[in-house]
Amino acid sequence: MNHKDLMELEQEVLFDTYSRYPIAVKKGKGTKLYDFDGKEYTDLLAGIAVCNLGHCHPEITEAICDQAKSLVHVSNLFYTKEQLEFGWALLSTGDFQKVFFCNSGAEANEAAIKLARRYMQKVKGEFRYEIITLEGSFHGRTLATLTATGQDKVKEGFFPLPHGFVHAKINNLEDIKRKISDKTAAVMIEVIQGEGGIKPLDRDYVKGIYEICQKHDILLIIDEIQTGMGRTGKMWAYEHYDIHPDIITCAKAIANGLPMGAMMSTKKVAQGFGPGSHATTFGGGPILSRVGTKVIEIIKRDKLINRAEELGNYLLRILNDLKKRLPGLINEVRGKGLMIGIELNDKIDANRVFKELISRGYILNLTQGNVLRLLPPLIISKEELDNFSNTLEIILKEVDK
Ligand SMILES: Cc1ncc(COP(=O)(O)O)c(C=O)c1O
Repeated sequence: MNHKDLMELEQEVLFDTYSRYPIAVKKGKGTKLYDFDGKEYTDLLAGIAVCNLGHCHPEITEAICDQAKSLVHVSNLFYTKEQLEFGWALLSTGDFQKVFFCNSGAEANEAAIKLARRYMQKVKGEFRYEIITLEGSFHGRTLATLTATGQDKVKEGFFPLPHGFVHAKINNLEDIKRKISDKTAAVMIEVIQGEGGIKPLDRDYVKGIYEICQKHDILLIIDEIQTGMGRTGKMWAYEHYDIHPDIITCAKAIANGLPMGAMMSTKKVAQGFGPGSHATTFGGGPILSRVGTKVIEIIKRDKLINRAEELGNYLLRILNDLKKRLPGLINEVRGKGLMIGIELNDKIDANRVFKELISRGYILNLTQGNVLRLLPPLIISKEELDNFSNTLEIILKEVDK
């Protein structure tokens, strides 16, 4: 089978839900991907912030294979050592005392929304259910999480949507204050909006939200699904902001490519769930948990969080130098750690730049029409980042002609 056969087969077999890149991937190793013709690509996207340790990391492969020999699945009716070890390791990374495992980011956010409501209604005895989220945010594709998402495009054709979600303007504390009511259960934010175009929220704004939540006894949920696991130069991006959320959600990178999500909360808020209140068949299965524990071990051992910070600063610097060398072509370079967006000027055909980068061997993403989104594996090298920046410079000069 070659690339063309696979493209035709996809049209015939799969729902038409994805606009795919014109690449059929055969294998991956470290920061590289290879197509069916043997062409090599540098992966600056890591499966959309998933394969933080790179592709087919030998220790992860070993953990998967070894665990598959002894226990693959038993359900959450039983205790398993792997799940508890991973739970312990994950909780050791932050301010939280309890974890719930699930299978994806959207599911982790669903769990957070349900927990916030149930905590308010069952523990505090108040009928609060509204969740305030931000314009431009992205929280997932289930009915509740697409309603939570602050972008209209994900909602088209899915009406009526669940009740109880309110959107506030980004970086505008007054708007949050206006939207709080006696029905508000929680505020849910990404401290750096990912799909929304790599937009870090202002420091004072996030601190302000935290203080408002404390004052009104409202829960603060941080969606760390894209920002988490060291990507921004901290284990969790909320650590950049000097706040203590009640709940965080994560997924994507926690099992380096296997489908896993998690919600963590304080012990107090965790009282919102009791037996039978929430569940999922596959959550925290032995293979995923074994891999999750290994991921944390490798992140710590190989100091990948520091690496993300250092390389992120380096990348910001070389891209800002590029911006200066090519006045008027790049509006802004922004982000933290290895989560970086390059916003191109309207006069540049961003789609053409994106396609040229792909054809010259760089995998990245174009979001919000003009933002090149970089989420490389945390093991990327300086040399690979330099080569990318040089290639981008050549392409921008060509496209500007
Ligand atoms: C911030 C954020 N939240 C939630 C999600 C949804 O995660 P999943 O696709 O695993 O359901 C994503 C996915 O891109 C995300 O970036």
